[in-house]
Amino acid sequence: MKSVSSAPAKIILFGEHFVVHGTKAILAAIDKRVTVTSTVTENKTIKINSELGTIEVPIFTSYKKTKSEFRPFVYLANKVISIPNCNINGLEITIDSDIPIGVGLGSSSACCVAAASSLFGLFKAWSYSGILTMSIEAEKTIFPNTSGADCTVCTYGGMIEHPSIEKIDNTFDLNLVIANSMIPHNTKKSVKKVSKFKENDEKRFSELCDLETKLIDEVVLAMKNNDATVLGLKMSENQKYLEEIQVSNDTIRDMISSLKEISLGSKITGAGDGGCIIALINDENMDKVPALLGKDKECFSAKLDTKGVVWKIEK
Ligand code: PMV
Repeated sequence: MKSVSSAPAKIILFGEHFVVHGTKAILAAIDKRVTVTSTVTENKTIKINSELGTIEVPIFTSYKKTKSEFRPFVYLANKVISIPNCNINGLEITIDSDIPIGVGLGSSSACCVAAASSLFGLFKAWSYSGILTMSIEAEKTIFPNTSGADCTVCTYGGMIEHPSIEKIDNTFDLNLVIANSMIPHNTKKSVKKVSKFKENDEKRFSELCDLETKLIDEVVLAMKNNDATVLGLKMSENQKYLEEIQVSNDTIRDMISSLKEISLGSKITGAGDGGCIIALINDENMDKVPALLGKDKECFSAKLDTKGVVWKIEK
């Protein structure tokens, strides 16, 4: 028996970094997925196969003793094996992903959500809230300070406000382009840098949190009014706050500026210091994006995913 689950990638439309310090954020799940397949084995081991390699460790090995990319899976597998009377000797977990790693599209969160769903699905112990709790715990084995916003949107799909998990309906097509700076980012480092900024200037950081909250309220209204122009302006305004907390760089600024003429607004998505930007582009200008960004950047247009995490048992 195989328990197969998949979860979507995500973008943060508004509020990254500030969300770690308690403000709201708006996130959307997008049409790239990771699939995790779990099977029960007779060996007393946890075996993990992914594009990053294969590991096999004895059951109950502490996740801290494994490389960081495998920690969430070892953590979750041990949790499952510890369920009273579960009678499982070992587990094999296989990860297949079409989400680029380390560029701010939520690859690790999607993996945690799909793995929690696949593993707990083995016992039919499946609920959205249970998966969300377990996936956030698993993600904390890599990012102890995670806001949990990424796992939330990967679980529920669609466009949501965090932390309320309220769905935001947009009746107009969001023509969002995701462009990769090709600079790998490091979420932990960037989050730490922002905490330093906060420590050095509590007053300004608190003002920025208030501005971000106000901006998000205005965005929700713009979405209700189908106002893409205001939405774009708010993205650019949000980018200014991200510049101020120093998670941008010259490459990101160049990318944003190269799309200026054809975009309604653009900004970093995710931790920044590299990774990806998102740009809101009018339909008629979509085909101009690759040439404006240049050959050394990757870009694609993102569609909203409304399914969130899905799960099935295969014989
Ligand atoms: O770049 P990502 O996908 O790791 O997103 C990080 C988002 C932050 O707000 C910077 C951190 C968080 O936990 O919300």
